[in-house]
Amino acid sequence: MAREIKRVGVVGLGMMGAGITEVVARADYDVVGVEIDEGAVAVGRGNVETSTGKAVARGKLSEADRDAIMGRITFTPRRSDLRGVDLVIEAIPERLAWKQELIADLDTILDADAIIATNTSSLSVTTIAAASEHSERVAGLHFFNPAPVQKLVEVIRTELTADETVETLGGVAARLGKTAVSCSDRAGFVTNALLFALFNAAFDLAEQGLAGYRDVDLAATAGLGFPMGPFTLCDLVGLEPTEFIAHTLFDETRDTMDAPRGTLRRLVAAGRYGRKTGQGFYDYSGDQPTPPSGTAPLTEVLDALPNATAVDASGAFEADGVPVRVIQRNGDVVYAEVTQPLAGDSAGADEVAEALRGLGLPVVAAPVSVIDDLTLGYLNDAATMVQSGYATANDVDVAMRLGCAMPAGPCEIAESRGFEAVVAKLDDLHRRTGQPRHVPVLLLRDLAAAGATAFPR
Ligand code: 3HC
Repeated sequence: MAREIKRVGVVGLGMMGAGITEVVARADYDVVGVEIDEGAVAVGRGNVETSTGKAVARGKLSEADRDAIMGRITFTPRRSDLRGVDLVIEAIPERLAWKQELIADLDTILDADAIIATNTSSLSVTTIAAASEHSERVAGLHFFNPAPVQKLVEVIRTELTADETVETLGGVAARLGKTAVSCSDRAGFVTNALLFALFNAAFDLAEQGLAGYRDVDLAATAGLGFPMGPFTLCDLVGLEPTEFIAHTLFDETRDTMDAPRGTLRRLVAAGRYGRKTGQGFYDYSGDQPTPPSGTAPLTEVLDALPNATAVDASGAFEADGVPVRVIQRNGDVVYAEVTQPLAGDSAGADEVAEALRGLGLPVVAAPVSVIDDLTLGYLNDAATMVQSGYATANDVDVAMRLGCAMPAGPCEIAESRGFEAVVAKLDDLHRRTGQPRHVPVLLLRDLAAAGATAFPR
């Protein structure tokens, strides 16, 4: 039976912890927010005040409701103030030893049946839980950045977790207005395991000189409809946590496809941690360029190009012998890719790209399809996860839609492109990269061979 939760503690009031504190207090729970000292408490309180203040300024929250939310939170530097709470959510930095010390200490403070949830992004929840003498009441409760916005939480069950703990956390997630996806304890769980492979695909495009940061981000936003491109998202999450999570994933899989890439490691070494320090992949000190976002009917696009051939089902055609691919949404072209040779004469490709830009369209000219390079490995990883039984196709899609605000999950993308086309493109990608992770997984091959149009759901 699920335990009734009335008072909640949040330990660690950094970006995620403060967001979680806000979410929990908004759901009418009384919250005890704990930091290590008075200075950190002031910063944590400031984080929550700023966020709720913005909501008031935008007319999303009345002043009275903001005051009520702040009134439900007790900020304190003393862990002992957690005595009597029913649930503690820990959101301290990703250091295993710190988390284990905290969990063991909570044994001395909390009732033996109080629940402890860790917001770790990638550390082993089992190893953290094992630090408690009551490890059956410890589980993962993983939020997404910004916590007040993203609608997903992952509930991670270890070998030691009791059913009651998982049920209780599912109930809390529902009261917080979040959708819970349950999974067992693997590095990266569902969302980060898929998202970080997508980040690495983006880093590879840049490191191999195939596309710049802004082009990759444009392909992700205009071409795939993601709310932010991978480089912008890494800057938002912070490059230190990004590198840390990448290391943890790599430690578990030992697959070079998961290894943290040099670009990321060098930026962290240089102290460029992303948006919070004003510089990461991008420099945030000045005005940010507005990416093109025009649309045009397909007929207008074809009319603007010399000698355009017929457009196939994937949006591909040629203009004066230059391969072009367009993405259409609601009947209009929203994004175009032009194949630009790495060596040799690129004048024809440049001309076609300029004609498309002249229509106001987002255009990426590169030697490869940036949207394919970004997504094919991601689709294969998602299918691998489904094949292994780690997550269902529904859970994978819900995780990416609600955790990262993507318009469609990877299984839905594979379905809309068609399994046969995805398998053929993965085979092509594998021929170029030689990466075992790009060999189409058996489930995709079988779905293609069976002429299926959807994953079993
Ligand atoms: N707190 C509260 N609300 C916020 C907020 C914050 N920090 N930031 C944005 N919002 C709200 C705004 O109030 C606005 O609400 P409204 O639509 O009701 O008016 C809405 O979110 C959109 O905000 P903006 O218009 O200011 O900005 P954008 O439209 O550019 O959206 C974004 C910004 C919400 C960050 C959006 O781009 C997005 O969802 N990006 C994807 C983020 C993502 O993928 N997160 C997951 C990262 S992985 C992770 O966290 C796991 C970890 O382990 C690493």
